[in-house]
This record gives sequence, structure tokens and C-alpha cells, in this order.
Amino acid sequence: MCGIVGYIGEREKREFLLDGLRELEYRGYDSAGIAVLHQGEINYFKASGKLDNLIEKTKDFRSINFGLGIAHTRWATHGKPTEINAHPHWGEFSFLIHNGIIENYMEIKKELQSDGVVFLSQTDSEVIVHLFEKFVRLNFTPKDAFKKTIESLKGAFAVLLISKVSPETIFFAKNAVPLIIGKNSQNEIFFGSSDAPLIGFADEVSYLEDGSFGWASKEEIEIFKDDTKIVPIFKLLNSSKIYAQKDGFRFFMEKEIYEQSTVTSETLMGRIKDDKVYLEELSGYDFSDIDEIKICACGTSYHAALTSSYLFERISKIRCSVEIASEFRYKEPLMDKKTLFLVISQSGETADTLQALKMAKKAGLKTLCICNVDNSSIVRISDATILTRAGIEKGVASTKAFATQVLTLWLLSLYVAKKRDKLDKKMCETEMKALRSIPSVLKVDEEIHEKLHRLSKRYLHGHGFFFIGRDIFFPLALEGALKLKEISYLHAEGYPAGEMKHGPIALADSTLFTIALMPQTMLYDKTKSNVEELSARDATILAISPKEFTLADDFIKTQSYEHPMSEFFEMMVITQLLALEISIRLGNDVDMPRNLAKSVTVE
Ligand code: M6R
Repeated sequence: MCGIVGYIGEREKREFLLDGLRELEYRGYDSAGIAVLHQGEINYFKASGKLDNLIEKTKDFRSINFGLGIAHTRWATHGKPTEINAHPHWGEFSFLIHNGIIENYMEIKKELQSDGVVFLSQTDSEVIVHLFEKFVRLNFTPKDAFKKTIESLKGAFAVLLISKVSPETIFFAKNAVPLIIGKNSQNEIFFGSSDAPLIGFADEVSYLEDGSFGWASKEEIEIFKDDTKIVPIFKLLNSSKIYAQKDGFRFFMEKEIYEQSTVTSETLMGRIKDDKVYLEELSGYDFSDIDEIKICACGTSYHAALTSSYLFERISKIRCSVEIASEFRYKEPLMDKKTLFLVISQSGETADTLQALKMAKKAGLKTLCICNVDNSSIVRISDATILTRAGIEKGVASTKAFATQVLTLWLLSLYVAKKRDKLDKKMCETEMKALRSIPSVLKVDEEIHEKLHRLSKRYLHGHGFFFIGRDIFFPLALEGALKLKEISYLHAEGYPAGEMKHGPIALADSTLFTIALMPQTMLYDKTKSNVEELSARDATILAISPKEFTLADDFIKTQSYEHPMSEFFEMMVITQLLALEISIRLGNDVDMPRNLAKSVTVE
């Protein structure tokens, strides 16, 4: 879950590498480092903390003319986020960067230590560079030494290694975490954990396969898998980089909340015509032999999945179960070939979700993914993909990706309903009307935003938040609580409103903040009773509803929509803005909250 960049060519290397790391900082940002091999010498720099520290440290360094560079931004797995644990790691003549986890590093480390190798860091990664040097000392050629090194590793890795024994080559390997290689007509070669750092530089890219390794120099790129040389498939790389600016917003998260209206129109584009849902991606799909949908996902994507489980059962009349991917992996699940296995992931790289998908494929299930990143690992493995079209999401706390996931799942539930002949004309018209209105529902109401900004100052303390709701507003409550805890570091939980009386209500007092989702279209009276029970115990209530609620301490009045999904999306924006405003008041880094990373490619 770190970010990797690499370069071979004549370009000034510091600038390219640091700009590349900036693009990947969302993947981890507790330390960063670069190493540049030029005229037989290796210069390296590392800094703990955000990338700016490394930029400052390298400000007088330049490397022009031919050379190689590798760069890394880290999200700590083994060893604290200190400078010494930052990458690159080195031996006597080689430098290495690594993303992933080496599961057998302890055995390798002990063996190397018994040979007299001294380790500087607490990382698992450092074994790779020492192992390589050991094989070189044993007189293997650098290529064979690298091959033997990679063959000794178990686990997940994207690795770049440079060495004075082969001063024109970057050695690389990829297994279970992403690594991309790019090239252009000027004979430059690029590496990246995603294509973002390569945009504008590489003309074509190849997404390396799991289990592949090789070496690149300006003369050639050689890639091997299972001892066989493979011919990489290069694809043209898009050259647009406009997503990179904040457009005047304080944070990317804020910009992304405001973008939800536009991106959801993109999600719908070409997918509804004449009151019918068109999902071309599923044209070859036969739903007749499917009697259940099983969804696996993590975090926010899990909340989108949970929301859709209500839609699949209510609209498509098909059984639907949802599981957290990290739980599913190890429970020895029973898998039935009549089950459609659906995974949801913004990044398409989440290790737990990817593994769950691989298990389902192995068991012979039909697989489908809903994903935001084309060509990501999950997309490449799934039998079919529906892209959410949210655009690049930079804020670690997911917002527009969630909105587009829920919208896509709603479309899918209607598509499946139609295929199963469960959608009558009237219902179809109602759903289509509501679907079409979502982009306008998602336009941020500036007055509500301003009100949330003012209210937020009352919610900076207390002993916790409960977000409560019923039906689809329960997963929305979970998501609201996740947003708040991710960026404010305040304790927040999502609960089904009707479940509070079974225990959590014991916490109620004036400093327990309840965010009550009280839509008019979905079990209003039931939810109201649950909120009244909390109010009677002096809990502080922030009610979000189109109906006035006199017991509320604070009240956000929503529109009087007739469809539950319209109320869902409007309330979603309100919970996102509430979390944003609280976090800003607390002085937190909204886009890069502590301890998190955008793409979780470790277990
Ligand atoms: O990329 P994915 O959707 O698979 O990521 C899953 C979670 O890691 C992600 O949703 C995480 O919970 C976000 N930080 C939520 O804001």
C-alpha cells in the first residue's frame, strides 16, 4: 500500500520522481525516499512524514543526463514510520524500493544475519536487497541474482532495484500488488504503482501480471513469468491530467463532494433510455441460472453493498447477502454456482476484496465487479465490470466513489429485475424518474453547507456520535459514521435506529451526539419513536429530515422528495459535509487523515 515510481532516461530525475510521488501520495504518506544512479554513483534521500519533507531535503539535488531513478512513498506495515524504515533500502552497492509484504522475511533475515549481514531497518523489505547482493557475491550474474531473489520471496510485492553492478538497468518484479511499466518514443522507461505518475510522459503502458519479473534498460525490456519470457502487451495511455487541481476548494474531499452531481450524470450516461436500463457490459451475461447475489467489499464500498442488498431484494426479488471481504476470505465459505459473486471497490486494488474475488473464480462462480479504476487488478480478474465513472478520487475519505457505487448498484438492481421479469411498468417509470433526478439532488445546497459549517462547532467534543437510520438509511448511517471517524478522529458508530434500545442507549446523555436520519419515505414514525427514546435520555439530537422535529437540538431540513433514494442521496451529502466541517474545525488534514491510505493493498 505504498507508492512506487521509477525512471530510466535523460530527463532531470528529481523532479520527475517527486512529481510522481505526489500523484501516489494517497497510497501512503508516512515517509518517502528516492535513489538516483548516475555515472556509476548512487545518490539517495529519505525523509519521514509527508512528501514535502523529502522535497525540502532534495531541493539542491539535480540529476541530468542519462541515469536511473527509483522513488517510494510509504504506508508502514513492518516497522514504525521513521526515516530509517523509509525506502529505499540499501546493501553495499544496490538500492531497493518495495510495496507489499514479504511473508517469509523472518526466515530470510535470520539466514542473512547468520552470514554476517547487518540490517538497518525493521522492515520486511530490506531482506530483498541483501539477498540480491548475496547472490551477486556468489558470482551469479545480476540478472540471475535478481531472479533467484524473487524466487525466494513469498507474499505480495512490487519491487524496483538498482545496482552499481548493472548501472543501466532497473530490475523489477510484481506479485499481488500493482506495477506498471511505460515507455515512449524518446526511449524513456517509466514505472508506477498506477498510471497517474506516467500520464504526460509515457505513450504506452503495460500492466504487469502477477508472478512476473524482469529488467529494463534503454536498449530492452525483458519480462519473465514461470521461467518463460513473455511479450508484454502495451496499451496507449490517456494524456489528461486536469483532475489534479483542487479548483478553489479547500480540500480534494470538498471538491469531490461538490462533483457528485456531475459524476453521477456520467454514471448514468447512456445507461437509461426509454425507461430501460442498458448495461452493455453485461450483454453476454445470462441471469437465468442465478438465484442469489453475494457481495464482498470493504469500508465504504461495503456500505454501498449493504445499501444495494435492500434494493436487490426489494426491486429485483433476488436473495442478496453481503460480507466484509476480510471476513469472507477465511470463513471457508460455501459457494454455489447459482450465485453471482459481485465485488465492489473504488480502487480495484484492495487486497481483501481481490482475494475474495479470486476465491469465487476458483470455485467457478460467475463474477462481476463494480469499480472506479479501469485496468485495476479487480477489473482484470472479474468476468465483467461496470465502471462507476467517478473520476480519480484523491481524498482518502471516499465520497463521490460511494455515490457512484450506490447509483450503479441501483441501476444493476433494476437491470436484474427486468431480466427476471419482476419490474412492472408503473414501478419502472417511478424508478427511472427518480434515477434521472439524482444528479440534481446531489447539487450541494450552499445554505445547508453554511448551516453545517456553523453547527459543526457544537460537535467537537463529547463522548461519541451515533448515526442512526432504518432500512437503506442504516448503511447510510454506517457510512456517515465512517466518514466522521476517518477525518475527525472522533468516535462514531452507525446503528440501525431500532437496535439502540437493545444496548447502546445505555450511553445516552447530553454529550452523546445522535445524528438521526429521518426520511419521510421510509419508516418515518418508527425512526421518530427511536429518536424520541434517545431524546428522553437527554442525548443531543441533530435530526436530518424533511419533517420538522421539535425534540431535535439541531435540525437540518431536507427537501420533500417522494423517492427514498432521493432522500438517501440528499442525506448522504449532508453527512459528508458535516464530517468535513468538523474535521476542518479540528485542524485535521482532511485529504490525508492519519494512519490511513487510499488504496489498501495489504491484508
Ligand atoms: O478501493 P476500495 O473501495 O476497495 O476501498 C475499500 C476501503 O478501503 C475504503 O472504502 C475505505 O474505507 C475508505 N477510506 C473510506 O472512506
